[in-house]
Amino acid sequence: MNTMKGDRLLEVKNLKAFYASKKGVIKAVDDVSFHIDTGECLGILGESGCGKSSLALAVIGLFERVARFAAGTSNVPGLRKEFDESVESNREDGPGVHGSVYFRGEELTGMEEEDLVNMRGKQISMIPQGLTHALNPQYSVGYQTGEPIEIHDEKVRLIELKRKVLDYLGLVSLADAGTRFVMDPGSFSGGEAQRILIAMSLISGPYLVIADEPTSALDVTIQRQILNVLAMVRDDFDVSLMTISHNAGVIAELADRVAVMYAGKFMEVGPAEKMFLDPDHPYTRGLMASYPKIAMMRMKTGGKRPRLRGIRGEPPDLTDLPSGCPFHPRCDYCVDTCVEKKPEYREVEPGHFIYCHRWGEI
Ligand SMILES: Nc1ncnc2c1ncn2[C@@H]1O[C@H](COP(=O)(O)OP(=O)(O)O)[C@@H](O)[C@H]1O
Ligand SMILES: [Mg+2]
Repeated sequence: MNTMKGDRLLEVKNLKAFYASKKGVIKAVDDVSFHIDTGECLGILGESGCGKSSLALAVIGLFERVARFAAGTSNVPGLRKEFDESVESNREDGPGVHGSVYFRGEELTGMEEEDLVNMRGKQISMIPQGLTHALNPQYSVGYQTGEPIEIHDEKVRLIELKRKVLDYLGLVSLADAGTRFVMDPGSFSGGEAQRILIAMSLISGPYLVIADEPTSALDVTIQRQILNVLAMVRDDFDVSLMTISHNAGVIAELADRVAVMYAGKFMEVGPAEKMFLDPDHPYTRGLMASYPKIAMMRMKTGGKRPRLRGIRGEPPDLTDLPSGCPFHPRCDYCVDTCVEKKPEYREVEPGHFIYCHRWGEI
């Protein structure tokens, strides 16, 4: 099957991903549905701790393993057992993953691990959050860049592999790649390491690349370089991107469509322009208004002058979510219904989804 621009590449339906913890079940991803089409970049924007990385792990089928490991290494007796029992019995509100992920029409959730391994790294790849542990200090950068190909194609000829590695390191503008590819990761700067990870994520020709906070470990000038590389990937490569960031500027630069996440849920999803210039959800409005640059942009396009301030209050504890809409304690438009009832996640205009009782009234 070949994919064409605009085809549905990824379809996520009612995805939940819950950790076990001492305080109870952490609802890191709480009933999220969305899609990514071929050739587009979906940006996931949300404050730290809202569940973005957990969502990425759940999409590529690694969540369960990470959550089990976390439960097993915690100092809470019985947590690992509780986790395993919950997964075993498929308890809807227990720790583990629920819901479906379809990739190129095939359901990934419930796929055999062997098939998933084949998929990961080859058809879907991830640039993980945090550079520090992503590259192995013991192996040369060239070796590691070629690894995704070697893993999936044992018969690849060494000379071909080397040529490809150098091609890809060149594409991400790694200086002197031809002489430096034999060096270990310690001899590269943070920005270079991030570019090496980008090369690595592309080398096996994936359909989808997930970039989790691709710029946040770097200082501002280096961030700019990485954004340029990612924009090049978006424009010149035949891949779809899921870019995750807590920084609206990063998302504004890369995304065609934006999903705003809060307390494990998507609050609003829509075309980037709509989301930045004329968002409807009170949380999205608050979030965008806390970025001076975006506020300026809105004024220039004739929008109302937003008040430049953050959102009052704190994000909720994911083990003890507020009743009804999880944003209600911080929302200026909260009415009784918002406290009593969970909103329905609905498509209010073509391509524009919202999780708010009061859409259309406020
Ligand atoms: N390995 C883990 N074990 C237990 N809880 C975790 C783990 N990783 C993240 N969490 C919790 O899950 C929630 C969502 O975290 P995360 O997905 O990392 O959010 P984000 O990427 O948006 O910052 C947070 O409350 C966080 O404390
Ligand atoms: Mg994260």
